[in-house]
Amino acid sequence: MKNIIIIGANQGIGKGICDIFSKKIDTSIIATSRCYTDELTGSDRLWKINCDITSEHSIDNFHSQITDKFSHIDGIINCAGLLHTIDYLPEKSISQISKKQLSENYQINAMGHLLLLKIMEKKLAKSNNPFAVSISARIGSIKDNHLGGWYSYRMSKAALNMGFKTLEIEWKRKYPHIKLMLIHPGTTDTNLSKPFQKRLKKGQLHSIEQTSENIINQIEKKMNGQLQPLFVDFEGLSIEW
Ligand SMILES: NC(=O)c1ccc[n+]([C@@H]2O[C@H](COP(=O)([O-])OP(=O)(O)OC[C@H]3O[C@@H](n4cnc5c(N)ncnc54)[C@H](OP(=O)(O)O)[C@@H]3O)[C@@H](O)[C@H]2O)c1
Repeated sequence: MKNIIIIGANQGIGKGICDIFSKKIDTSIIATSRCYTDELTGSDRLWKINCDITSEHSIDNFHSQITDKFSHIDGIINCAGLLHTIDYLPEKSISQISKKQLSENYQINAMGHLLLLKIMEKKLAKSNNPFAVSISARIGSIKDNHLGGWYSYRMSKAALNMGFKTLEIEWKRKYPHIKLMLIHPGTTDTNLSKPFQKRLKKGQLHSIEQTSENIINQIEKKMNGQLQPLFVDFEGLSIEW
């Protein structure tokens, strides 16, 4: 039985990925959302628990709740992300940046992903064929930045990418069997992209189901050794840093 953690499994892309994995009979899912309770609940193959990746206390609680039941973890798919809230939209100009928006984006889009991997390191290392995937975004590519704007989101995704690049170097030495991947999911019809869907070209907006299948396909290719780059898009094409 494979044990897979999906962070942010109650909505958007995370929910889509959770729905697909829940049909795989060889997989136990540990699904997280900030809406779930602090206690691990569930049955054989679908477990639910709160995890707020901006809180080390919450991450610690998450770990201690799952630790007895799951001796090892075979995969982590971190779908947590923030682009806008009721207080702000992505910045169009430097005049709009604020410490609040910058730090909230950093905490959710970058820091939280690394803090979670810190605590899961030992359990991942115990698996024979483990992976850790975070959903990044092409917009975090410095080379690809032709339009400007969206300071907090761009900067936080670039920071996530740097975190993974650094971790890849460390874990190649310590745990060469752990596979890491950052994936750009493509523009997907979720709450995160809702305010920005009007100007998209026909066919550019993917459904949650399409995107989830694309991501799982790329994870499978990575696990089979068919996909080498760390930062890829939903078709498995390498994205420049
Ligand atoms: N949709 C797109 O077009 C698009 C494009 C490029 C990249 N992405 C990336 O894809 C990922 C998923 O986004 P989505 O489109 O599915 O957006 P979404 O529907 O808004 O989902 C965001 C997810 O992040 C989780 N989350 C937010 N803050 C969290 C926190 N502090 N701790 C733990 N989980 C937290 C939410 O979980 P709860 O609220 O249930 O806790 C939710 O599951 C994000 O990283 C996003 O940047 C999306």
